[in-house]
Amino acid sequence: MNASSPSPAQDRASTATLYGGVTNRRITVRDLAAAKQRGEKWSMLTAYDALTAGVFDEAGTPVLLVGDSAGNCHLGYETTVPVTMDQMVMLSAAVVRGTKRAMIVADLPFGSYQESPAQAMHNAARLMKEAGVGAVKLEGGERSARSIELLVEAGVPVMAHIGLTPQSVHAFGGYPVQGRGDEAAHRLLRDAKAVQQAGAFAVVLEAVPAELAAQVTEQLSVPTVGIGAGVDCDAQVLVWTDFAGMTAGRVPKFVKQYANLRAVLGDAARAFAEDVQSGTFPAPEHTFH
Ligand code: KIV
Repeated sequence: MNASSPSPAQDRASTATLYGGVTNRRITVRDLAAAKQRGEKWSMLTAYDALTAGVFDEAGTPVLLVGDSAGNCHLGYETTVPVTMDQMVMLSAAVVRGTKRAMIVADLPFGSYQESPAQAMHNAARLMKEAGVGAVKLEGGERSARSIELLVEAGVPVMAHIGLTPQSVHAFGGYPVQGRGDEAAHRLLRDAKAVQQAGAFAVVLEAVPAELAAQVTEQLSVPTVGIGAGVDCDAQVLVWTDFAGMTAGRVPKFVKQYANLRAVLGDAARAFAEDVQSGTFPAPEHTFH
């Protein structure tokens, strides 16, 4: 065996399926590359705390994203823009502590990587050293390629994010679908190829027409992770508060709600209040003597 040939343990990594196959260690970029090769699709969820991350990890979700969507889904901001590195480090460390098997990917928040590849490296290193994440994600195609290249050269696995990039909400004037029309479609394909060429191990495609996402998925050798990008992506990601029905009000068209936790928790809080008011809680079985 020479330095470039995989060890027997690494070989097993590439043949073990993401669901049911890998049980005793964290999912790696090699597992995700092998999943694309054999056509195994996978799910990714966001997580912002140890408790929720632990539930998704136990359920077998292979990749958890500490998204900067924490800004609007967890920390009470209107957008992802105000999220800071210190907040991302704190949330990411909690998610790492709450999990054993999932690959943990953390977002580089707005302003933490756009200045230069050196700034991206400095902050990616913080997420890896202080929080213990296995990979980082950053937004942008061609414009972020130099930073991705430097991070990958330095040993940082990078997930890219193109299409609708929420950190640019003020430049977009909202959250419009991207890649519609020939010119925009060509630009998206160029972005996808640029981040793959730079070394990204996966590419998030957000709010992109399904036909275009299918074309990108076919042309890339690395997995695509869709959110509002149709069924042909290699993987799908949802924000956990959306998929679990915690979000108040309207959710985007691409969200499927798999539970209604907001109603369940609201009902529980109201039942608790009624029991307290009526004096039926605490009952004898909840009482020390
Ligand atoms: O921050 C986030 O949750 C994301 C997903 C929407 C992909 O970037």
